[in-house]
This record gives sequence, C-alpha cells and structure tokens, in this order.
Amino acid sequence: MPSFASTTILISALSIILGLYLIQPADMPSFAAIRAANAAFFRSVSGAGSSSSSSAAATANAATNAASNTNTNNDLPTAVFVGGTSGIGEGMAVTFAEHTEGKSNIILVGRNRAAAERILASLPAPPPSLSPAPAREFVQCDATLIKNVHSASSQILSKFPKINYLIITAGFSTLAGRDETPEGIDKKLAVHYYARWKFLSDLVPGLQKAKEAGEEAVAMSVMAAGKGGKVDLEDLGLKRGYSLSAAALAAPTYNDLMVESFAEKYPSLRFIHAYPGFVRTNLGASSPSTTLRLLTPVALGLFRPLSVSQNECGEYMWYAVSHTIRDGSSNTTAGKTGAFRTGSKGEDLGRKGYYGSEEARRRLWAHTVETVQAALGKEEGK
Ligand SMILES: NC(=O)c1ccc[n+]([C@@H]2O[C@H](COP(=O)([O-])OP(=O)(O)OC[C@H]3O[C@@H](n4cnc5c(N)ncnc54)[C@H](OP(=O)(O)O)[C@@H]3O)[C@@H](O)[C@H]2O)c1
Repeated sequence: MPSFASTTILISALSIILGLYLIQPADMPSFAAIRAANAAFFRSVSGAGSSSSSSAAATANAATNAASNTNTNNDLPTAVFVGGTSGIGEGMAVTFAEHTEGKSNIILVGRNRAAAERILASLPAPPPSLSPAPAREFVQCDATLIKNVHSASSQILSKFPKINYLIITAGFSTLAGRDETPEGIDKKLAVHYYARWKFLSDLVPGLQKAKEAGEEAVAMSVMAAGKGGKVDLEDLGLKRGYSLSAAALAAPTYNDLMVESFAEKYPSLRFIHAYPGFVRTNLGASSPSTTLRLLTPVALGLFRPLSVSQNECGEYMWYAVSHTIRDGSSNTTAGKTGAFRTGSKGEDLGRKGYYGSEEARRRLWAHTVETVQAALGKEEGK
C-alpha cells in the first residue's frame, strides 16, 4: 500500500501540475496550425532525397557519405531519439517520420529492443525507389552507465556521421532515494543529466557535419525547463544532500546550464531544454516504485483533460524545434543557433523559472567532465 508520505508527495506533485495547467501559455496557435507549421518546416528544410539543395551542401554530403563507408543514405535528414522506445521520444519519432514522409534516417536508443522494433515497423514507409533505403535502427543502451553511452554514441557516429536532430527524452520516475551505479552516480541523475551531457558531447561532431552541409543541426533535451530550482554548487551530483525534491529541482537546472554551455562552446549549433507538460506515457506505469505504479492510473484519469497524448506532445516539441514563439508571435527557426528553453506547447520560456548563473555554468561543466572521466576510468579499470 502507498505510504502516507508518498501519497502526500504525489498529491503535491499533482497540485503543481494542476496549477501549471491553469496558467497555460496564452495566444498559442491551434494544434492543427502547429501540425501544419511543422509539416511546412520539414518540407522547407529537408525535402527528403534532395535535402542538399545547394551544390556546396551536395558536395559536403557526398564527402560525408564516403567517410561513413556504409550503405547508409546520409543525404536524408537523420534523427537520433535517445528514449525513443516509449512516450515522448516515441511520439517525436513518429511525428518526425510522418512529416518527412518516411524519407529520413531514424535511430532509436534505449534498452527495450522489442518496443523499438514495433515502433520502427509502424513508421510510414519510404518510397521504394529511394536507394539506399532510409535507416530504421535500434541501438541498445542502458544510459545509467556512462560507458554504455560512450559505446552507443560511437556505434551511432560510425554509421551516421551526419546527425540533424539529437532528441533526448530517456528518463524514469521513482520515489527511491539515492541509488548509485557502479560508476558512483545516482541512477536518476545519470539518466536525467550525466548521460544526456555525454550523448551531447559525443554526438556534437555529427551535428557539426549537418551544419557544414548547410542543414539543420539541433539537439533537444526533454526534461523540465522552468521547473528547476537553485542548486548547491558545493554538492553538485548530490553526494551529500540527496533527497527526492533536491534531485527533482537539480536535474532541470543542470539541463539549463548544460544547453547553455554547449551553445557557448559550439556557437554554430542550436541546443534546447524543453518541458513537455503532462503527457500520457508509460512514465508512471513503468516506474520501479510500486506507489507510483498504483497511483498513476488514478492521476491520469483525474487529470486527463489537462494532459496530451505522446504524439500531440511530439508535435509541440517539434514546434519548439521548428519555431520560436514568444508573446503570441511565431517565427521559423531554420538555421537559428544558441541555447533555448521551451514550454509544453513549444513556446519560448526565455528566463522563466531560471536558476542558473555564469559561475554555476562553469562549475557544473568542470564537475561533469571530472565525473564522466572518473566513470569511464572506473569502468575501464584505470
Ligand atoms: N510524461 C510526462 O508527463 C512528463 C512530464 C515532465 C517531464 N517528463 C520527462 O520527459 C522524459 C520522457 O518521459 P516519458 O513520459 O516519455 O517516459 P516513458 O514513456 O517512460 O519513456 C521513457 C524512455 O526513457 C527510456 N529509458 C528509461 N530508462 C533508461 C535507461 N536506463 N537507459 C536508456 N533509456 C532509458 C525508456 O526506454 P527503455 O525502456 O527502452 O530503456 C523510454 O524510451 C523523462 O525524462 C520525464 O522525466 C515527462
């Protein structure tokens, strides 16, 4: 049975969700308009099969294809979905395949091969004339371990030297306390922050290749932009002060600082930290916490009118990629660079609910480099 404490935590969380939905972003386009805008965006930037509209881009793509030395159609837009085997990642993969009419390379990363195969088989089929056929790949990776992230990234880059979209949604919910991996990192923080940082760091060369080819190059971490809190710079990684609330407030702020640092280091690329809102996914049902598994159906039933499906969320998240919407006015983002924080409908959050600082950014980066190096060193027995 759920304990009193965990029921209280869940009720508080649900009240927050309700509060958030009562302050929905105003002046947003309708869902149909958002879907149409995404379709138009992908037509304009990909035009699958002829994505390299300029001769410079065509030359760059030809070089990329030759370098990859695989039977892979690198001329097509390529998207990697870390966490694409369920929920928001699945919704984004499906909507991406629809908007590119199947003419795109899609790589799902996660632990569940059966789910990946089901999703990949369900995507819109590309025209049979397209040769080589677009890739539909699964790369297995338990992202609680940094060494697994490193090996998954190497596999992906060796086959797909050009990546247009890196979408990271891997995550899980638990009411457990600090639970360390053999690499010495808390599992939840590992998946919600350190693994995301490592995927970005390892796959940046793929995004840079896309940019050099004159194509879109965007990385998005779907976590909880605007829902973070102040972080303790003397206890980054929460080795001493771990609690459910400390971890829940730290991960979004770490993600804010992460996209800012990457945007600063790689100014030709675009990095987004997104908040997805309340989405009907497997997050609660697949939780290792019995309490969350029992209470999730109740919450989903009670708040259903305030939630969106994973495919609807996929459209909103792609809208955050394809457009910047602020104060009711919306502009396409094609070619735009820098760090962005976006909300549940894809709107630009600016600095709303932001708890970062220059010092926090610098110290978190140094801490993360050290933690990731230590994790790899440990696993390699150094
Ligand atoms: N749903 C919401 O209402 C909501 C609200 C706010 C924030 N979020 C955040 O959005 C993100 C996505 O959530 P979701 O609702 O889409 O959840 P979901 O349906 O449970 O999907 C989670 C995904 O993460 C992957 N994953 C989990 N643990 C992993 C691990 N150790 N290694 C590799 N992949 C792992 C799962 O793949 P495998 O099982 O194949 O490993 C799955 O593809 C999470 O970070 C969540 O905290 C969600």
